Amino acid sequence: MHTIKRTVLVTGASSGIGRAIARKLLQQGHRVIGTTRDSDKFIHPHPLFSPVQLDLGGLKNLPAQLRGLEQQFPAMDAVIFCAGKGQFGSLEEFSYAQIESLMALNFTSQVFLTRALLPALKRKPRSDLIYIGSEAALKGSRKGALYCASKFALRGFTQALREECSKSNVRVCLINPGMVGTPFFDGLAFSPGDDGSNALEPDDVAEAVIYVLNSRAQMVVDEINLNPLNKVVKFKK
Ligand SMILES: NC(=O)c1ccc[n+]([C@@H]2O[C@H](COP(=O)([O-])OP(=O)(O)OC[C@H]3O[C@@H](n4cnc5c(N)ncnc54)[C@H](OP(=O)(O)O)[C@@H]3O)[C@@H](O)[C@H]2O)c1
Repeated sequence: MHTIKRTVLVTGASSGIGRAIARKLLQQGHRVIGTTRDSDKFIHPHPLFSPVQLDLGGLKNLPAQLRGLEQQFPAMDAVIFCAGKGQFGSLEEFSYAQIESLMALNFTSQVFLTRALLPALKRKPRSDLIYIGSEAALKGSRKGALYCASKFALRGFTQALREECSKSNVRVCLINPGMVGTPFFDGLAFSPGDDGSNALEPDDVAEAVIYVLNSRAQMVVDEINLNPLNKVVKFKK
């Protein structure tokens, strides 16, 4: 199938969902700008891949860094927002600093990045903003007060932004996966069960991103919810 070649910024391209998306885009001949906090993680250079070191948790320096990003890659016409982390526990287990830092990474940094890139994206004939939300954007869950809040906030933001962008060529999509087998669970007290039906694969989410990017420019895919067939949560001892 003939697809239009895009220049796509993928945040969190060093691991899990972001990495799978970056790989699939490269396989299809798109240009990928991949962000991580440590670009030494990108050990296999690809001619269409540009690594960018960016800490999205440090909001203070972010606006200046983001200005540079836009100037460095003027052809950018899509952004996939994958950088994020899971942190779970009852509210009283979080320090004030931890609350601020989770909301900064999972929500505010995504708004900053959007704010920085939107004027240029609006001038393109076609552009896409695709955010990786979560099932936690749809329903609150025990020990998820802050993680769910960050993802609900992202969902509200994308709904309003979609309206705001409807007179331009910018399409806004939110993809809400259930559990995906990635290093996301490495530091957590739980993970998906062992059966293949207990977790999505990062490539499942990547396929959804490709579908959205390749869809007819005059159609908007608002949201996609994806879930493993048989949700089983395993608690670590
Ligand atoms: N896995 C799941 O079950 C699941 C389900 C629903 C939604 N999600 C969402 O999907 C997104 C990706 O998760 P994943 O499963 O792919 O997790 P992952 O494998 O742990 O990857 C997380 C990515 O975020 C980047 N990142 C973390 N902290 C960062 C920071 N301060 N600044 C910049 N980048 C940072 C990491 O890059 P570096 O460490 O290289 O900087 C890494 O590339 C997250 O938003 C997560 O909430 C995950």
